[in-house]
Amino acid sequence: MFLNRLRREFPRSIRKYYTVNSNAVNKQQDVIAKDIQMQIKATGPITVAEYMKKVLIHPMGGYYMHKDVFGAGGDFVTSPELGQVFGEMVAVWLLNEWSKVGSPKPFQIVELGPGRGSLCQDVLRVFDHFGALKSASVSLVEMSPFLSDTQARRLCLNSNAIHDQQQPFYREGVTLQGAPIKWYRNIQDVPKMFTLLVAHEFFDALPIHKFQKTDKGFREILIDINREKDLEFRYIIARDETPASKLFADASDTREHIEVSPESLVLVKDLASRFEEDGGMGLIADYGHDGTGTDTFRAFKKHQLHDPLVDAGNADLTADVDFSALRKAATEEGKVLAFGPITQNKFLLNMGIEHRVKKLEENLDEEQKKILWSSFHMMTDQDKMGSRFKFLSLLPAVLDELLKKAPVAGFN
Ligand SMILES: C[S@@+](CC[C@H](N)C(=O)[O-])C[C@H]1O[C@@H](n2cnc3c(N)ncnc32)[C@H](O)[C@@H]1O
Repeated sequence: MFLNRLRREFPRSIRKYYTVNSNAVNKQQDVIAKDIQMQIKATGPITVAEYMKKVLIHPMGGYYMHKDVFGAGGDFVTSPELGQVFGEMVAVWLLNEWSKVGSPKPFQIVELGPGRGSLCQDVLRVFDHFGALKSASVSLVEMSPFLSDTQARRLCLNSNAIHDQQQPFYREGVTLQGAPIKWYRNIQDVPKMFTLLVAHEFFDALPIHKFQKTDKGFREILIDINREKDLEFRYIIARDETPASKLFADASDTREHIEVSPESLVLVKDLASRFEEDGGMGLIADYGHDGTGTDTFRAFKKHQLHDPLVDAGNADLTADVDFSALRKAATEEGKVLAFGPITQNKFLLNMGIEHRVKKLEENLDEEQKKILWSSFHMMTDQDKMGSRFKFLSLLPAVLDELLKKAPVAGFN
């Protein structure tokens, strides 16, 4: 099978790291908190979804917009940042599923929320090694101008910012391997063609609404000004129904507290339509639950849990992804099949990560080996990222019969 060939003929090369300049911090530290305070004073308490969106991607001082937030010097570390083997396993999955349907061309590799570009870099290196980039283009969905610049410096020799408002993309270039690459702000702007998609730690950054069960039914949690502390906020429960509680809170849900991300549901529906109409497949990886999570909205600052209502714009906001809701939204019109969610531990081990680490270590000194195995354990151990992170895959429903004969790699 192709999967075995991929494993045998894997590149021996080690990813080249380069340091991102993280000095470009937001100088107006409380610009976001001031903006939110003004909005609440003018129009009243806001939803958690509005708060999250402002804090994370507000053009003036959103958390992701103007600084490097990853790694030891930032607020959190992600699996692709820990080492190249993570991206390599994702690449093998994409290559394998693509080859199963006859490697349709032309095609695009799409990544949602590429961060520093490390995952994309590893995917492109593996595709290039197997000569699979000849008819490929790359489309990145990224809101942050700072991070798009970081990604471009990592992935391209040259790239240009595009100021033409008529264009759906805002940056373009050519990757080190020679594939055309473009940056978009929304998935809706990404060209319609056969797509191999990956979204790692993207959905957890999308806005959620929070609802609390009361004796009158679910009521929305809103965010108001904390009158005791300037530029800090507090939660309140809406007395009456809000548009969101009417639309998104399911009265039959037995949980005391629920979180719903309508933006995520719209997004997976869009992916389902694309995969059905133009062909394609995708891997969604994130921390999350299967419809059982409750109050998961939180912040991280300097690798520590942090109050999401304090220091807005200077700490990461996140909520566990509800994989059962994503799965239901993606599959309810019968356009795609969903496999998973399965744990990261299962996915990576099924894809052969251990075998790959053993191959890689043959070329390494003792210190490098230690780092390699330590990142392997961080990604796969059940008490680390191995069980908290989950993988969900989406493939066109038309492949049903084929996938019974040749099951989706990593998920069986
Ligand atoms: C937690 S980081 C994950 C980065 C990378 N995937 C990784 O695993 O290292 C979230 C990424 O999504 C981007 N992002 C967050 N919200 C977004 C939105 N609404 N639209 C587009 N990109 C967004 C951020 O700028 C960042 O690149």
